[in-house]
Amino acid sequence: MAQYLIHDDASLDASIRAAIRQVLNAAFGADFSDADADHAAGGIRVLAVDGDTIIGHAALVGRQMQVNGVPVTVGYVEGVAVHPDRQGQGHGNALMQILGARAHERYAITMLSTGEQEFYEKLGWVRFLGKSYVTEHEQMVRTADEDEGLMVLPAEASWHTRDCVVVCDWRAGDVW
Ligand SMILES: CC(C)(COP(=O)(O)OP(=O)(O)OC[C@H]1O[C@@H](n2cnc3c(N)ncnc32)[C@H](O)[C@@H]1OP(=O)(O)O)[C@@H](O)C(=O)NCCC(=O)NCCS
Repeated sequence: MAQYLIHDDASLDASIRAAIRQVLNAAFGADFSDADADHAAGGIRVLAVDGDTIIGHAALVGRQMQVNGVPVTVGYVEGVAVHPDRQGQGHGNALMQILGARAHERYAITMLSTGEQEFYEKLGWVRFLGKSYVTEHEQMVRTADEDEGLMVLPAEASWHTRDCVVVCDWRAGDVW
C-alpha cells in the first residue's frame, strides 16, 4: 500500500534525491537531463512511497512570469513520474491530486509542460490557449512550439483567453 508524502525540497537528503532521480530516469529514460532534475528543485515534492521504496514523484516550484503584462509567481509542475514497474496503478493520479491541491492553496495560476495532455485533462487541467514567450537578454522571445504542450490550472480563469500572453524567465535546459 503506497503512501503519498509531501516534503519541502530543502529538507530532502542526498539518498532521497538519488532515489528520486532513479525514478525519473527510469520513467523518462535518456530524455531526462540534469537540467530537468534542477527544474524540479526548490519547491515542494510529493513522493509516492511503498515501504522504503520511492515509486513516484511530482514537484511544484514557483516561477516568475508575466501574465498579460502583470508579474506573477506561477506554480509550475515538474518531474511527474511513476516508476515503469508501478505505472497504471493510480499513483500518478494520486500524486497529481495532492500536488494540485497544494498548487491551488499557493498559487493563483499553475502551469506545466507535457506531451501527455490526456493524463492531465483527466485531472482537470486545460490546454493553454494563448501565446508563450521567454525573456532572453531582456527581450521577449516567442516560444510557439511550446504552446501545444502547456497546460493550466485552474481550468476557469479570466486571464486565460486565446489572446493571453505568458512570458517565463529564461532557465538552462527547457525553458518551459
Ligand atoms: C504519466 C504517468 C505519470 C502516469 O502515472 P500512472 O501512475 O501510470 O497513472 P495512473 O495509473 O494514475 O493513471 C491515471 C489515469 O490516467 C491515464 N493515463 C495514465 N498515463 C497516461 C498517459 N500517458 N496518457 C493518457 N492517459 C494516461 C490512465 O489510463 C488513468 O485513466 P483512468 O483514471 O481513466 O483509468 C506515468 O505513466 C509516467 O511516469 N510516465 C512517464 C513520464 C511522463 O510521461 N510523465 C508525465 C509527463 S510530464
